[in-house]
Amino acid sequence: MKGQILGTGIKLGVFEVVDTEPKPVEEIITTLDIDPNHGYRFLRALSHLGVVNEAGGTFSLTSSGKLLTEDHPHTFKDYFLLEVSQMNYSLWSQLPSLIEDGEQNTYVREFGEPLFDYLDSNPEVASLFNDAMESYSRLQGTEIQELLNDFEITEQSHICDIAGGYGYLLCDFLSTRQSLTGTVFEQPEIVEQEAQHLATEFGVADRCSYVAGDMFEAVPSADVYFLKHIIHDWSDTQAIQILTTIREHAPDDAQLVLLEHVLPESNSSHFGALYDIQMIVWTTGRERTPDEYASLLEQSGWEHNETTFGKNNLLGAIKATPT
Ligand SMILES: C[S@@+](CC[C@H](N)C(=O)[O-])C[C@H]1O[C@@H](n2cnc3c(N)ncnc32)[C@H](O)[C@@H]1O
Repeated sequence: MKGQILGTGIKLGVFEVVDTEPKPVEEIITTLDIDPNHGYRFLRALSHLGVVNEAGGTFSLTSSGKLLTEDHPHTFKDYFLLEVSQMNYSLWSQLPSLIEDGEQNTYVREFGEPLFDYLDSNPEVASLFNDAMESYSRLQGTEIQELLNDFEITEQSHICDIAGGYGYLLCDFLSTRQSLTGTVFEQPEIVEQEAQHLATEFGVADRCSYVAGDMFEAVPSADVYFLKHIIHDWSDTQAIQILTTIREHAPDDAQLVLLEHVLPESNSSHFGALYDIQMIVWTTGRERTPDEYASLLEQSGWEHNETTFGKNNLLGAIKATPT
């Protein structure tokens, strides 16, 4: 219910019309061109969810509501639109049978082909997905930069962000470290969409290139590799194939950093346990503990050095070097 209401608020453009300064409800309803009775009841429900604030016949946007606007630097809007998309509901409707039979092939069941093949042949859905990934990166931006703050990296290093989407993580990282250069390595469909690339927005277009390829086949040589939310998309066998390919193309002193919803070794409560179900529904992958990542790395020519966690513990950085 909460998701439906928030998603509808985004689709109707409510968060673009309601402002941080209180606006009369009549003005909001007229601008949105919605029914006054339903419109008021809807705004009242959004107020209950904490994204707008109701006071004396006016509504204003709260700090949580601002995260659902287009222009917020850490906007969560596009991720939310994917979450409330018809496609996502179809995929989640498969969950009972996935849990019963232990298979992990929702996209094949629903759409006849695996996730990334389906995206390749459906540009509109791919755009919804890729915008959502950028949105999730924006939301995580501050936590990731904190996680990588202490990361020791030689000046003049070249960083390759494997399957880096439109480049949010790498461009953000390069923007605060002037001596570094980088490559976003992605599927051709993403590399071709130059207008979506974020290097210009971050002012690093002269130090950041986009290279197309298949991470199962070959990757560019680099001093440092980032992989954010990549290994969790894949089964152990597929993950080992990706990590082995990177090792084959990496110099012997390379560094590898996986950024993931790392599960704790103990059975303490963790957001990753929920996201793991998303992985069952969407991918062939899973969330993993530091030991499970260490095992994958060991089988792929890498040695796990350490895992560090962000302040709020949502994300972990798994660091490795060649064995
Ligand atoms: C879950 S998204 C993560 C994107 C980005 N790292 C982030 O955190 O926002 C997975 C990415 O893997 C890319 N990808 C999938 N298969 C790939 C392949 N075989 N080679 C290179 N990239 C691939 C997709 O295009 C997609 O951008």
